[in-house]
Amino acid sequence: MATSLLIRDGRIIDPGQDIDKTGSLLIKEGKIAWLGDGTPPEDDYDVLDAKGLIVCPGFIDLHCHLRQPGDEEKETIATGTLAAARGGFTTVCCMPNTNPPLDNESMINYVKAIAANEGVIRMLPIGCVTVGRKGEELVDMGELEMAGAIAYSDDGAPVSSPEIMRRALEYSRDFNRPIIDHCENLFLSQGGQINEGVVSLELGLRGIPASAEELIVQRDLDLARETGGHVHIAHVSTEGSLELIRAAREQGVRVTAEVTPHHLTLTEEAVLGFKTNAKVNPPLRTERDNLALLRALNDGVIDIVATDHAPHTAADKNCEFTQAAFGISGFETALGSLAGLILNSELSLNTLIAALTVGPARILGYEKLGTLEVGAPADVTIFDLHKEWVVDANQFASRGRNTPLDGTTLKGRVMATIFGGKVVYQDDSVKIEVR
Ligand code: DOR
Repeated sequence: MATSLLIRDGRIIDPGQDIDKTGSLLIKEGKIAWLGDGTPPEDDYDVLDAKGLIVCPGFIDLHCHLRQPGDEEKETIATGTLAAARGGFTTVCCMPNTNPPLDNESMINYVKAIAANEGVIRMLPIGCVTVGRKGEELVDMGELEMAGAIAYSDDGAPVSSPEIMRRALEYSRDFNRPIIDHCENLFLSQGGQINEGVVSLELGLRGIPASAEELIVQRDLDLARETGGHVHIAHVSTEGSLELIRAAREQGVRVTAEVTPHHLTLTEEAVLGFKTNAKVNPPLRTERDNLALLRALNDGVIDIVATDHAPHTAADKNCEFTQAAFGISGFETALGSLAGLILNSELSLNTLIAALTVGPARILGYEKLGTLEVGAPADVTIFDLHKEWVVDANQFASRGRNTPLDGTTLKGRVMATIFGGKVVYQDDSVKIEVR
């Protein structure tokens, strides 16, 4: 077996370098060594034939839940990173709503050590904004920064206190890190189960209005404007939020924003029949919101796609709707659920790849991630945009089988994921010619 790998004759798309061409990629000693359309400048390599496949930088997920420590029955860093690799991700940023939460140096060190030993891809930890995620006291951001937190968030809950949010933005400005806010006004959302609208009326469930999100988005934008800090709006779900973000960006506010695959592709109707696997926070909204989100992704108001992978056990979901946990297991269906938008010409392939690669890398300030530049870590995702497959949640690497897509047919499948030059996932149909 050679120490180098040639990914041959694929369609190489690297939006960060403005590359979209047929060619080959040589990986050597864990790094991208060469990219071109002839034969590489050496001949000792194994070959992965990528004809008809797309070859792009490994996907980066800025927002996921790996549940370790504390909720290992839902997911572990080992199972979560394996699931992420199957979804084409080579870097995932884990949210700190573990048990206990990642609110101090030792917790950050703990998850980093587990990821180094048991993870199959890169895991970057996000630290809490408040101690214990209780919303009462700002964490020691300097301590978390030193330990290696790459952003701060109380995700799963908003930072309700504007005073704490303001100070968090001030510190994060100095560290040049984003504060990722889960925008939810709890006074408006409390007890809410799904979007407030026709479906909540029909099912007799308490709704979560769009204003629950938009009031906090507006507040965060005002505070980012005032402090000069960088606010990243997590899982945007409403048309109104987008208008606020668009206006603030035009005024130079440091705001970035993400959308999830489910908020782009599913509506509130997915919960009809009290389907708990479609219960998620923020809730699935309306067709009109989906279209606005898609437009915003296409025109750059939304910077990235993030999965908000939120694994839960069967017991968390096979229960009365109001008792069920919020969340969707999203790593393994992310690409497949979005490829349809590309095949229908609703989203451009380059935009989607940018939103999964160079987009998140820029938000994090990592120049060497999300790119196939020579010398960068060899994090590569290879996928077939047209390959049809049926989602079978029982086959997930994730412990969370909670997906509303179970049993549906998708097009677009990850064929191989390479992390640091090592093939960490490959579809059965992919053969590597060992020379
Ligand atoms: O649906 C959700 N699930 N939304 C969140 O904000 C948190 C997440 C979780 O941790 O399960």
